[in-house]
Amino acid sequence: MIAALSNASVHMKDRNRVENVLQAMQKAGSNTMQVISDFDMTLTRFEHKGKRSPTCHNILEDSKLVTDECRVQLKELMNKFYPIEIDSSRSVEEKLPLMVEWWTTAHKLLVQQKIKKDLLAAVVRESNAMLREDYRPFFDLLEQHSVPLLIFSAGIGDILEEVIRQAGVFHTNVQVFSNYMDFDETGTLTAFKGELIHTYNKREGALLNTGHFQELRTRPNVLLLGDSLGDLTMADGVHDLCNILKVGFLNDKMEERMESYLNSYDIVLLKDETLEVPNAILHFLMGPQ
Ligand code: C5P
Ligand code: MG
Repeated sequence: MIAALSNASVHMKDRNRVENVLQAMQKAGSNTMQVISDFDMTLTRFEHKGKRSPTCHNILEDSKLVTDECRVQLKELMNKFYPIEIDSSRSVEEKLPLMVEWWTTAHKLLVQQKIKKDLLAAVVRESNAMLREDYRPFFDLLEQHSVPLLIFSAGIGDILEEVIRQAGVFHTNVQVFSNYMDFDETGTLTAFKGELIHTYNKREGALLNTGHFQELRTRPNVLLLGDSLGDLTMADGVHDLCNILKVGFLNDKMEERMESYLNSYDIVLLKDETLEVPNAILHFLMGPQ
């Protein structure tokens, strides 16, 4: 049905279900569809040439906007909490308070750095931020077919927007839910706005944004892209959900996490740094323009 689904990186527990959902979504048409995607390690690469690619937080962490001392503290937090974030032997309940601790401590440290808004663009430009291979057709195709793309990220909205703006793909069909920085009248970071979004509370984040999903109520068919099991709840605010196809990138701790990913994502992309499979799915669903 879709040649790319035979790629070596593609794993599926139930190929029949995938084909049925794809057929139902194709029949319903692209005007009934919306795409909801995570950002870090889903739209961006996990690694490039053997080196880990940065998350939104890492972009700031690795920049000249923070002191060496702050950088060390942020790295220590990452070394402590990232293994917990991806630990398949711990429950989400157990992880929740630890994720809140990671994000709130990191944000507090960033606020102490008095980061200037007008330096963010240069920092992103000088960073190693990298969208996945074949990102351009992904964003362009959705725009051409007027399919809304929600980027739902526990990263930092201001950084994320700058990454896609500099890549030339922050099209008008793109909306972002994320953690946004709050600046004072001198353009200095003073806090983060609104309710914190971390890896495991995206359901709550979705339910807070009822207006967005209300506007998209004529689009009950969803393509969801994520890399964490926490991303599976990103579509929980969708009205009268009809069909959903969940595509998950399994980037790290592959062996121990494969089973849980196969049980929750319809399609698991193992160590795949490209958007080739999502693009092939979009081509199938949207057909020639
Ligand atoms: O876009 P996404 O929701 O994936 O962004 C969140 C990611 O940012 C998490 O998976 C986490 O590993 C990473 N993170 C980080 N530094 C922090 C907090 C989170 O790199 N201080
Ligand atoms: Mg992610």
